[in-house]
Amino acid sequence: MDTVLYERDEPGIVRLTLNRPDVLNAVNLQMRDELWSAFHAFRDDPDARVLIVRGAGRAFSAGADISEFGTAPSYVEARRARRERDLWGLLLHLPKPVIAAVHGYALGAGCELSLLCDLRVASEDAMFGLPEVALGYIPSAGGTQTLPRAIAPGVALHMILTGDPIDAQEAYRRKLVQRVVPRDGLAAAADGWARALAARPARALSYAKEAVVRGLDLPLREGLSLEARLAGMLLGGR
Ligand code: COA
Repeated sequence: MDTVLYERDEPGIVRLTLNRPDVLNAVNLQMRDELWSAFHAFRDDPDARVLIVRGAGRAFSAGADISEFGTAPSYVEARRARRERDLWGLLLHLPKPVIAAVHGYALGAGCELSLLCDLRVASEDAMFGLPEVALGYIPSAGGTQTLPRAIAPGVALHMILTGDPIDAQEAYRRKLVQRVVPRDGLAAAADGWARALAARPARALSYAKEAVVRGLDLPLREGLSLEARLAGMLLGGR
C-alpha cells in the first residue's frame, strides 16, 4: 500500500495515515482500493482494537481527487467501484472504535470520511467543508446523511448548500468534533483516546458501538430491543 500507511506498532492500536501529501491526500481510486484492504485488515485482526485515521503532510484530506473527475472511463470506473464495494459502509460498521485525528483541510470525501469515524479530534488549524454542490455535484461519501445526524440539520444544510467551510472552533461549537487541540498535541490526543479505549473490554465496545450506530437508523422501540439483545448476548457470554 502506498496511498495509505498501515502501522500497528503499539499493542491494540492501528494508525492509518492517508498518504498522498503532495495532493493534500486527495482520495483517488487507488486510495479507495487501499482503504478497502486496510479496513478489512483492521477488522479481521483480533489484536487490533482501535483505529486512528489521520493525514500525512499539511491536511487530513482535500476530498475526492478532482483530477479523476470528468473523464468517461474514470467515471464509469468510479461508479463500478462504488457498486461493488461499499467502502464507506465498511468503515461505518467496523465493529471496533475508529478515531479521526483531523488537521488542515477536511473537505468533501475527507470531511465525510471523518464523519464515518466514531470520534473526531481536530487541531486548531482544521477546516471542515463539503464543496461538492459548488462543483455541480453532491456529497456522496455519506455526507448528506452523516452530517445532519452529527450536527443540527439546519447547520448541516447550510454547509452542504453553500459549501462554506467551518474552522475547528466552529466545528467544536457545532459538536462536529469532540475536542480541539493545538496542532502539536493532535497525535497525543488521539493516542490518549485510543489507549483508553484499547484498555476497555472489546466486546462491550463493539456492542455499544453497534447499538448506537445501528440504533440511529431505527425507531426507538426497535433500537431498545436491539440494545436489549446485545446486552443479553454480553450477559449470556455468547
Ligand atoms: N484533488 C486533486 N488534487 C488536489 C485536491 C483534490 N481534491 N486538492 C488539492 N489538490 C492538489 C492541488 O492541485 C495541488 O497540486 P499541485 O501542487 O500539483 O498544483 C496540491 O494539492 C496542493 O493544493 P493547493 O491548491 O496548491 O493548496 P492550497 O493550500 O492553496 O489550497 C485547497 C488548498 C484545499 C483550498 C485547494 O487545494 C482546493 O480547493 N482543493 C480542492 C478541494 C475540493 O474541491 N475537494 C472536493 C472535491 S469533491
